[in-house]
Amino acid sequence: GGVTTIDPGYKNTGSCESAITFLNGEKGILRYRGYSIEELAEKADFLEVAYLLIFGELPTREKLDKFYTDIKKQAVVDEDIKKILDAFPKTAHPMGVLSSLTSALTAFNPSSVNVESEEDMYNAIVKIMGKFPVLVAWTLRKKQGLPLDYGDKSLGYVENVLKMMFKEPNEEYTQNPILVNALDKLLILHADHEQNCSTSTVRIVGSSHAGLFASLSAGISALWGPLHGGANQAVLEMLEGIKADGGDTKKYMAKAKDKDDPFRLMGFGHRVYKNFDPRAKIIKKSADDVLDQLGVEDPILAIAKGLEKEALEDSYFVDRKLYPNVDFYSGIIYRGMGIPTDMFTVMFALGRLPGWIAQWREMRLQKEPIGRPRQVYVGENHRPFKDISER
Ligand code: CMC
Repeated sequence: GGVTTIDPGYKNTGSCESAITFLNGEKGILRYRGYSIEELAEKADFLEVAYLLIFGELPTREKLDKFYTDIKKQAVVDEDIKKILDAFPKTAHPMGVLSSLTSALTAFNPSSVNVESEEDMYNAIVKIMGKFPVLVAWTLRKKQGLPLDYGDKSLGYVENVLKMMFKEPNEEYTQNPILVNALDKLLILHADHEQNCSTSTVRIVGSSHAGLFASLSAGISALWGPLHGGANQAVLEMLEGIKADGGDTKKYMAKAKDKDDPFRLMGFGHRVYKNFDPRAKIIKKSADDVLDQLGVEDPILAIAKGLEKEALEDSYFVDRKLYPNVDFYSGIIYRGMGIPTDMFTVMFALGRLPGWIAQWREMRLQKEPIGRPRQVYVGENHRPFKDISER
């Protein structure tokens, strides 16, 4: 028998049991493995959080050192990856490039596909944790016509990402602790968010026992869209547009409320949060601090604050419980850090990587069956074939 009811967008469908991330949308609570996001953003570093998400516990110093040593051993990619990168036009969107290169890694690491033991999984995990930042940095550098090479393995994970992205001609970026801390915090805040669109994609692709890298590549494609991770790019483009249009936030508020106008206030609203997104709170404060410390005065920050204030007082947004989400202020920080707008979602992917990995690993360890939803068929009944001459 078939199913008789559907749940478009899976608004009320649970797809799995998970012990990774706890989210209470009514109260605005987010915890990784039981630890509150506020505390992790304040006290942990990104690699520790990655370990926590993937393996379930905060690492001891020894465990963290081993994890990082294993990752560093894998932090190279086959030189032929450069040829694939070279074949893309400079105008290619970095998310498309990143998704393709992540998928291409499978061809150079075929042993990562069939994972039969926890050890096989561990090996695939440290490989991608090592190689992904290289792909992220190269995607940026290729776009800018800069030489591609590796960072400095004596540095920390996040410091090294910045080094690979910015060394020559912007060396000063890579040594600035303000930038390192800001990026570390942003990556932690993006690291997992339970069964969102891209994570569900990773789990469902992985459920067919396709390899980890192929599953991640699919997740990157899902993240790309403006209703999901692509919102951080869309927010900045929106703010730029409002500024260029004279900074009239009221006009755009009216557009966002007009049901005949496709415009939405990007960076507002969330499927699960019907309260402040706790990540947005931290990021807003961080945007103030970082721009302050860097001495950047960005008129776009004022526009964002103006929009937020108006929306929080407007009955349309209040009634629908639409609050700023993680993407509302993150782009302003990325911009202050010198990261181009179309790279913002790539930075989100870098942060989400451990979450995707943790969810994929949990799915495989739980031996979940292949993901295969049903449908309610609403098409034609049986009908006889018509020859082409009679149509
Ligand atoms: N601007 C104006 N109206 C909105 C907005 C918005 N940003 N978001 C939701 N609404 C309205 C929507 O029109 C609907 O109104 P009505 O009930 O009158 O038809 C109501 O609020 C409920 O919205 P929905 O689209 O049914 O809710 P959803 O859960 O399907 O969508 C969302 C959630 C995040 C896709 C949506 O809020 C949105 O498009 N926001 C803008 C894009 C964005 O910022 N995305 C980032 C999400 S957070 C991080 C991430 O996933 O990467």
